Amino acid sequence: MLEFEGKKALVTGATRGIGRAITEALLAQGANVVGVYGGNAAAAEAMRLDCAQYGDRLRLRQLDVSDYPAVAAFFAELEAEWETLDILVNNAGIRRDAVLAMMKEEDWRRVIDVNLTGGYTMSKFAVPLMMKQKYGRIVFVTSPMGHLGFAGQANYAASKAGQVGLMKSLSKEVAKRKITVNGVSPGFIATELIADLPEAQVKEYKKMVPANRFGTPAEVAEAVLFLASDRAAYINGAVLEITGGL
Ligand code: NAI
Repeated sequence: MLEFEGKKALVTGATRGIGRAITEALLAQGANVVGVYGGNAAAAEAMRLDCAQYGDRLRLRQLDVSDYPAVAAFFAELEAEWETLDILVNNAGIRRDAVLAMMKEEDWRRVIDVNLTGGYTMSKFAVPLMMKQKYGRIVFVTSPMGHLGFAGQANYAASKAGQVGLMKSLSKEVAKRKITVNGVSPGFIATELIADLPEAQVKEYKKMVPANRFGTPAEVAEAVLFLASDRAAYINGAVLEITGGL
């Protein structure tokens, strides 16, 4: 029997990069997955074709995780169909880099809205579905920038630090219901999120990583699946770093 056979999972930012790797790993292990994405319909279509083998175990839906009324309506539909939820992966995230003195207010707000408030909204509606069955796994995809900070990323780093505070607080609220809430903290992972970095900077960043390379989305997915599994029942409020030793 596959490890996630029959489990019901929801992954945000599911059509690209790390979220796609997590979704595909869950599908390969037997889960039913609803994957939500921000707006890139072409990426969703490509994934639909590539994952046709999983049939209706994969469903992809456009949903802005920062849009509270839209998330509420989405969960009403999900509950009508699934009743309960086993796994939520809060992975959706964006960057809008600028040094603070030059940072536009809309770029500050948008990054906080998607990365942090999106995690609040998705978790708020997911928790009651998990409470019903006294079981659940929530995993946040945060970043070392949350505790290290990074020039040009005050909005991103603040959102990622905020995710950890949210994750740890929620873990204490729901632990008695056998729901765990943890985070993974990937270092540099080769995805479209960092594809805009100039080559010289990529070289410099690789030198900073003791493993001397960027990680892969599949390597992050391994850790997420572990935290989402029954094997991690006594791990709660923890952040697992996947950084090649950064
Ligand atoms: P990506 O840019 O390849 O994918 C981001 C995904 O988020 C896409 O599927 C997109 O549709 C979705 N998304 C964006 N805004 C959304 C919204 N408002 N509502 C719903 N979905 C939305 O990014 P990547 O690299 O796969 O990042 C995934 C997560 O991992 C992010 O939270 C990111 O901060 C985090 N991370 C990434 C690292 C990296 O080096 N790539 C390092 C550390 C953390």
